[in-house]
Amino acid sequence: MRTQVGIIGAGPAGLLLAHLLQLRGIESVVLETRSREEIEATLRAGVLEQGTVDLLNESGVGERMRREGMPHEGVILRFGGRSHRIHLSELTGGRSIMVYAQHEVIRDLVKARLERGGTILFGVKDVSLLDLDTPLPKIRFHDAGGATRELACDYVAGCDGFHGVSRPSIPSRMRREFTRIYPFGWLGILVEAPPATEELIYAYHERGFALVSTRSPQVQRLYAQCNPQDQAGAWPDARVWEELHARLAGSDGFKLTEGRIFQKGVIAMRSFVVEPMQHGRLFLAGDAAHIVPPTGAKGLNLAAADVRTLARALGAFYASGRSDLLERYSETALRRVWRAEHFSWWMTSMLHRFHDESPFHHRLQLSQLQYVTGSRAAATMLAENYVGLPFEDN
Ligand code: APR
Ligand code: PHB
Repeated sequence: MRTQVGIIGAGPAGLLLAHLLQLRGIESVVLETRSREEIEATLRAGVLEQGTVDLLNESGVGERMRREGMPHEGVILRFGGRSHRIHLSELTGGRSIMVYAQHEVIRDLVKARLERGGTILFGVKDVSLLDLDTPLPKIRFHDAGGATRELACDYVAGCDGFHGVSRPSIPSRMRREFTRIYPFGWLGILVEAPPATEELIYAYHERGFALVSTRSPQVQRLYAQCNPQDQAGAWPDARVWEELHARLAGSDGFKLTEGRIFQKGVIAMRSFVVEPMQHGRLFLAGDAAHIVPPTGAKGLNLAAADVRTLARALGAFYASGRSDLLERYSETALRRVWRAEHFSWWMTSMLHRFHDESPFHHRLQLSQLQYVTGSRAAATMLAENYVGLPFEDN
């Protein structure tokens, strides 16, 4: 088999890259270890930055998102028993966010790809990358039927997430990794209930962080800071509600709406970046290259920004033989990656309880929250990062 760009992984990064390349007339093949049903059912994040929304719309895959997604013009920070609204659109010249679940984005992208005759090979196994530092790299794998196949390509895009094979295919002496593990996780639940709030609530409380998000008018997504080693079984429903009510309690009458909990899971929190994000003919994008804690809602958006940059660079190469954008891909992508890394770390540090924390640290966090919600300059800093900084094109 031969293609122009071999794409490993059918997450948001791989699928959106395949779609953006197709719009530029560049052929690709997407290889995915899981089945279509599995990738379309995996629950992940749900907040799209303005730039991601624009990218999906401009590339023709935003139709269902415009109908079913929920635009939000503000976000709430809650502490000291009160809610404080950050008016995102007013502070950013009209930019806002869209709440639309990642698996819905995946469904839209898979549909668009298959309708346009693009290839996604599901259920592949034993993927390995060969000859990355030659002009004809290859991807070897077993297809769903067990046959050994080889895909020769001009370029390889490693979009296979944090646990994929692409990043380790860069020799360890050629890459540098930066990691921070947080001493807490998030217990996430899905609840059958109407929304308790019109906008997302990020709550800081001495018992720990809580987040109230939504999936639809009937389904709410809630999170509570927990021990990262906890199993979901350590959180019977009664304990979940008790903790969420306590962390969201206040004097302003806010009341969380309870309902049937139909999904529960614990997620770990880490920050991670690999540098550079390219080696020979391999380019990494999305979670394969970087992880952010979910507090800033940046994971999916960074993946989209990476593949936008990569599609433009590959586009310039195939249109006019220019390779300078490809050569600068890692440098360009990493500027946005590190901004999002800092913002996600900052939001996480401001909003969580650290178990070794002193009363001094707690006072500092409260002071920071008061400043961010009380000063227009500080609120603007949060708002412009949260809705996403404009793309840099070079
Ligand atoms: N071969 C082929 N596919 C693989 C391999 C492999 N060796 N290893 C992993 N995959 C697939 C996974 O099954 C998954 O479908 O690659 C895909 C990677 O998708 P994600 O992990 O979703 O990563 P990415 O596309 O970078 O999306 C960014 O945003 O909300 C955040 O972390 C969240 O998933 C999210 C991400
Ligand atoms: C979600 O709805 O899953 C969600 C929202 C905001 C975040 C993280 C996750 O910061």
